[in-house]
Amino acid sequence: MTQYLAVVNPAGGTGKTTTAHALAVSFAEYGKRTLLVDCTTTANLTFLLGVENPRDTTFDLFNNSSFAESAIVSTSERFSFLPSDSRLSHLEKREKSLSAISENFKKSLDQMDSPFDYIILDTPSTLSQVWMATLLLADFHLGVTTAGLGSVRGIIQTQEVVEVLQKSHDASAYWLGTLPTQVASDSPALELLGSDSRVLAPSIPRAASVLTAESTGKSVLNNDNSGKVALAYRELAYFILEDIASKS
Ligand SMILES: Nc1ncnc2c1ncn2[C@@H]1O[C@H](COP(=O)(O)OP(=O)(O)O)[C@@H](O)[C@H]1O
Ligand SMILES: [Mg+2]
Repeated sequence: MTQYLAVVNPAGGTGKTTTAHALAVSFAEYGKRTLLVDCTTTANLTFLLGVENPRDTTFDLFNNSSFAESAIVSTSERFSFLPSDSRLSHLEKREKSLSAISENFKKSLDQMDSPFDYIILDTPSTLSQVWMATLLLADFHLGVTTAGLGSVRGIIQTQEVVEVLQKSHDASAYWLGTLPTQVASDSPALELLGSDSRVLAPSIPRAASVLTAESTGKSVLNNDNSGKVALAYRELAYFILEDIASKS
């Protein structure tokens, strides 16, 4: 069964895109058939991976269950990728219900001949309808935070919204934990987070190699294969795969 994992924090610049990309590379390294999905209106990941003017995007799958195979592209990093574009912001105007968006998307993916083991959702840095749809779509949530107050509050807000969404949609999802990036797991900056946010260790250290990798369009796992960031992401990926396996 395909497992949907959303990397979340409505605050920007917390490391969501970097983490979603790194997890897709790690999962593929562990032999999992993995799809990375750009669910953002800014489409940073789509740009970073060098996908230009895609015909079908996340918008089409959210909007009307388009055929997933025509939208998905393969990458040189062994995961598949579903690009986004700015039309995703129009979804807000279509007044589609959150469950319709989520069902359209799943229906598109279910039509594929060989299903993915994991679908990783890179989510927007806004409290939008698209953001909530990605929360509802996922079976597993991974929070990502820096030491900034806005970022830490973003995790608390996310957990509150998840609780309300699950009640109103009779849905359930599992909170994998909160990954600190560019800050130590035991930093006092994270003290606002309650124990149910489950701060993960090790955290992802700050390293210039992440920015260098970004400029080459590759994940830091491929660009600095045995660096400290790559090792920390591989350890995280292993933990997540084990945790998901124990829950499903
Ligand atoms: N561990 C890290 N060390 C150094 N820079 C990082 C690290 N993680 C992310 N960054 C940088 O921080 C910026 C924001 O990261 P990004 O993953 O795009 O966050 P978000 O998707 O939450 O907005 C990017 O420029 C990225 O290269
Ligand atoms: Mg991002």
